[in-house]
Amino acid sequence: MKIGILTSGGDTPGMNAVIRGIAIRARSLGHEVVGIKYGWKGLMEGLFIEVPYDYDSLIDMGGTILFSSRTNPFKRENGVDQIKNTFKENGFDAVIAIGGDDTLGVANKLTREGLPMVGVPKTIDNDLDATDYTFGFNTAYSIAADGLDKLKTTAKSHNRVLVVEMMGRHAGWITLYAGLAGGAHVILIPEFPLSMETVLSIVKKRFEKEETSWALIAVSEGYEFENLDVTGVETDEFGHVRLDKLKIGEQIAEQLSKAGFSSRAIVMGYLQRGGPPSPYDRVLSTRLGIAAADLVHERKFGMMPALKGTQIVPVPLSEAVGQLKLVDEHHWEFAKKVMGLD
Ligand code: F6P
Repeated sequence: MKIGILTSGGDTPGMNAVIRGIAIRARSLGHEVVGIKYGWKGLMEGLFIEVPYDYDSLIDMGGTILFSSRTNPFKRENGVDQIKNTFKENGFDAVIAIGGDDTLGVANKLTREGLPMVGVPKTIDNDLDATDYTFGFNTAYSIAADGLDKLKTTAKSHNRVLVVEMMGRHAGWITLYAGLAGGAHVILIPEFPLSMETVLSIVKKRFEKEETSWALIAVSEGYEFENLDVTGVETDEFGHVRLDKLKIGEQIAEQLSKAGFSSRAIVMGYLQRGGPPSPYDRVLSTRLGIAAADLVHERKFGMMPALKGTQIVPVPLSEAVGQLKLVDEHHWEFAKKVMGLD
């Protein structure tokens, strides 16, 4: 079989390890593997790149050797026809799309158009349904937690309140896990907003004693602050607003300054997506890549491998898209207790 691989959406540590897993397994089954450049854009326009046989560099390499974009073929004139042409002209028997909700949504629609697609769930946000964890999440929250560890000493030295903004478009998983791991005193996520009064009361309580006169606040970039105005803010082809433009961390730091605290905002930003994947993510990515190649080999299209408990199992793409996996009450309870709110 001739198998195309593409990566689409925000780059995620572990993408190259998935590509490696696919290539090793597919080639050992006797199949040909072709890299498609720039996600759906490359599949529309027939842009290809070789997938190396030197696998050693891929396991710990961040980013994606196939490049990525946020192109939506269903928003482009003749986008789907162009993809069908690329399949025909290049003799593809299957395409494996490594991506998040938007990418897998496109793969699901293309399956319905009769194209042989397999997905691999990817996002640092960990908000994909039908899989317990997505690769990249572990790396991203570890980097953000490391950021909190480092900020602790400077916050303490200056009796400051540091507000640390973390990625996560709709879901607060990164902020929750990094906040818990890095010992944040306030955790602000979109799913369970707290009032500014509550935030101030936690901070004030800490400042009652000299030795705790400092605080770390972890906030998701998608946290909706009172009176948030998104008019005129740039959106991508999937209709997502550029959250970094909203500067939620700065808005909260400003409220704290107004209340009399010395406060600063820090944006963790793209550091969370950069660099090598954690060993956990390398293992998960490798397992997913191998399982995706096996799905293609078995001609189980319209499916993706997913992590359920400790097992990698096949699930239909249709189950993974459409609804997001948000932080639930169970997880939030722990955060509330750490913050002393219950
Ligand atoms: O979806 C992953 C993600 O990293 C989000 O956490 C973030 O909001 C978004 O991508 C940033 O998108 P871009 O790379 O297009 O700026």
